[in-house]
Amino acid sequence: YKRITVKSLTEMKATHQKISMLTAYDFTMAKIIDSAGVDVILVGDSASNVMAGHETTLPITLDQMIYHASSVVRGTERALVVVDLPFGSYQSDPKEALRSAIRIMKESGGHTVKLEGGSEVKESIKRILNAGIPVMGHLGLTPQSIYKFGTYTVRAKEEEEAEKLKNDALALEKLGCFALVLEKVPAKLAQEVAESLSIPVIGIGAGGGVDGQVLVSHDMFGMTHEFHPRFLRRYMNLYEDMGSAVSQYISDVKSSDFPNDSEQY
Ligand code: KIV
Ligand code: NA
Repeated sequence: YKRITVKSLTEMKATHQKISMLTAYDFTMAKIIDSAGVDVILVGDSASNVMAGHETTLPITLDQMIYHASSVVRGTERALVVVDLPFGSYQSDPKEALRSAIRIMKESGGHTVKLEGGSEVKESIKRILNAGIPVMGHLGLTPQSIYKFGTYTVRAKEEEEAEKLKNDALALEKLGCFALVLEKVPAKLAQEVAESLSIPVIGIGAGGGVDGQVLVSHDMFGMTHEFHPRFLRRYMNLYEDMGSAVSQYISDVKSSDFPNDSEQY
């Protein structure tokens, strides 16, 4: 496999090839997803929810993101690996943002970083880009700001927020971000943004008029149970299937069916 690069993604946009992106947080899952040929693997700070069981993405630390990212990198041969900068690692000052991004690049071997926000984080983005580290933007429902929003419902339905989003998207492209995630915004707005930019726009809950799609892999595998937003398509029902496997195992152990004669030394 030839490695996907940030340049490959720009070319995919220019030639109207859709970009596929999924999250991974560990070696085994990354290997499965990479072998199947996904273009981009995101080591999302959604690890805070999916891996650690926190209610929000806020608690995950830079060290924990580096641990997840280094595991993913070891399981990946083809996909571009994007690593989220966690909450608190880039907002307070641009120098700290650069230090955080450098730690991710050096200690995990990831290929790019992603961070949330528009004009507010402009200086941080500039610093990171100046160091030669590619940056993916993230606008719309940015979960690190959940306590500002107060709800996980769709963003930018009103004119004022939609205008700010469009301006932020343009600003991110101008700064030099190689791509942008749009999360939970109206499809029409997302399409308008994608059409106005030459960098790829990857949507989650942003409709089909964008340049690619991302889902949290545990959600699309149906491993997460009580989470069914409209945008989520479930490709498996692993919560039930794995539960059944566990029940079967328990019953096999209790009945002394497992191990059988050929399953021992
Ligand atoms: O952390 C994450 O999984 C993300 C995606 C939902 C885009 O940022
Ligand atoms: Na994230």
